[in-house]
Amino acid sequence: MTSQGARGRRFEGELTPEAVDLNASVDFDKRLLPEDVAGSIAHARMLGRQGIISAEDAERIASGLEEVKRRFERGELSWDPALEDVHMNVEARLTESIGDAGSRLHTGRSRNDQISTDLRLYSRNSAEKLSALIGDLRRALLDRAERYVDAFMPGYTHLQRAQPIRVGHHFLAYDAMLRRDQGRLADAARRAGECPLGAGALAATTYPIDREGVAADLGFEGVTRNSLDAAGDRDFAVELVAAIALCQTHLSRLGEEIVLWVSQEFSFATLGEGYCSGSSIMPQKVNPDVAELIRGKTGRVTGHWVSLMTVLKGLPLAYNKDLQETQEPLFDAVDTLKTSLLVARGMVESLEMNTERLRRAVGEGYLVATELADYLVTKGRPFRRAHDAAGALVRRAQAEGLELEELSLEALRAEDSAFGEDIYEWLDVANAVDRRDVVGGPARARILAEIERSRRELNGS
Ligand code: ARG
Repeated sequence: MTSQGARGRRFEGELTPEAVDLNASVDFDKRLLPEDVAGSIAHARMLGRQGIISAEDAERIASGLEEVKRRFERGELSWDPALEDVHMNVEARLTESIGDAGSRLHTGRSRNDQISTDLRLYSRNSAEKLSALIGDLRRALLDRAERYVDAFMPGYTHLQRAQPIRVGHHFLAYDAMLRRDQGRLADAARRAGECPLGAGALAATTYPIDREGVAADLGFEGVTRNSLDAAGDRDFAVELVAAIALCQTHLSRLGEEIVLWVSQEFSFATLGEGYCSGSSIMPQKVNPDVAELIRGKTGRVTGHWVSLMTVLKGLPLAYNKDLQETQEPLFDAVDTLKTSLLVARGMVESLEMNTERLRRAVGEGYLVATELADYLVTKGRPFRRAHDAAGALVRRAQAEGLELEELSLEALRAEDSAFGEDIYEWLDVANAVDRRDVVGGPARARILAEIERSRRELNGS
C-alpha cells in the first residue's frame, strides 16, 4: 500500500494537505481498533474456511492482526493520517509485517461493510457497558430508598408541596426511569445485532462467502438482508444515542433535584465533599458543580442525537462519506453518559438526607388536605363536595394560622357534620402515606416490596 492510502494507482496526484485533514478519520476511529481487528480476523478465517484464500494465509493474517493490535496498543506503531482511517492503517501495518498474505485480507469486502460492522460491534458493547453502569446506579438508589424508607418528605407538583411521601419513594422513581433506560439500551443493541459483512461496497460480492459463519463468530444474532441498506445504515447509532440522550435527561432531573435539595432554601440534603467545589472568591461556598454538570451535559448528548439525524437526512443510497460524521457523536454520547453514570452513582451514595428538615416541611403547607376529602368520601359524601369542604377548611386554617390537625372538631364539624374524632388519625402523616397502599404507591410495605423486586431483577440480569 502506498501513501495514496485506499486510492491506488488510479491516482497520480496526492491529496492536498487540507483534504487529508478533512478526510482522515483515524484520529477518532482508531478507538475502533479492537472491533476492526475482531471483524478482520473473523473475515479472514471465513475466507480460509471457504477456500477463497489458503488456510495458511488465513492463520498468518489472524496472528498478524493480533500482533498489529498489540503493537498499536503499546504505542509501538503510530497512526498515519495519510492512510485515512483505522481500517487502512491496520491493513497497511499488517502487510508490512506479514507481506503478501496481508494484501489478501480485503478480498470480498469493502471498508463500507467493514465500518458498518465495527460500529455495530462497538454499539452493542457500549450498550452492555452502559447498562451495567445503570445497574450500579440503580443499586445505589435502592440502598438510599431502603435507608430512608421511614423518612417523610413533601411530594411536589408544579414545585409546590402537594402530598406527603416517604423519601424512599422518591428514590424509587429514579429507579423506575433507569429501568426503562436499560430496556431501551437492550433494544438498541438487539437491533444492531445483524452483521453487515458481505454487503461489500453496496452490491455484495462475487466470492462464495459464508455470512452466517462470520456473524456467529462475531456474536451477532443474524445477518442484514439488503446490501444497499446495510452499507448505508446507521439507524442503530441513532437508536443508541436516543436511548443515551433520554438516560442523560433522567440524570439531569436527578441532578436538578440534588441542586435544589442542597440549596439553603430547601436544605433537604447534603452532598459528599467529593462532589462539590468551592468558589475562588467566596470562601463560604459549597457548590454542587458535579450535579450541575450532569444536568448540563444533557444539551451536548441531545445535540449528538440531532447531529446523527441531520447527517442521515436526505442521504441517497448506499454509502456516502457523510456517514463518517456519525462516529464522533456516537463516541462522545457513550463517553459522556458513562462518566455521568459513574459520578451520579457516587453522588447518590454520598447523599445524606436532612430527615428533620424534611419532616418539618411535610408539616407545613396543608399537605394532608386530600385526607379531609377522602375521609368525607368514606362517610358517603360525593368526592367533589368533599373536596370543596376540605378547600374551605384549608382556607379557614390558613386564616387562623393553624395546621389542619390543629383545627378543633367543632370547626371541622361546622363545615361537615360527618367529621368524627378519628379524622385526626387520618391527618397523621404516616397514616396518610401508608393508606396509599396500591401497587406503585408510597405505603411503606409497597416501597419495601419494590426495592426487593428491583434488586431481584438486577441480580438476575
Ligand atoms: N472511514 C470511513 C467511514 O467512517 C470508512 C469507509 C470508507 N469508505 C469509502 N468508500 N470511502 O465511513
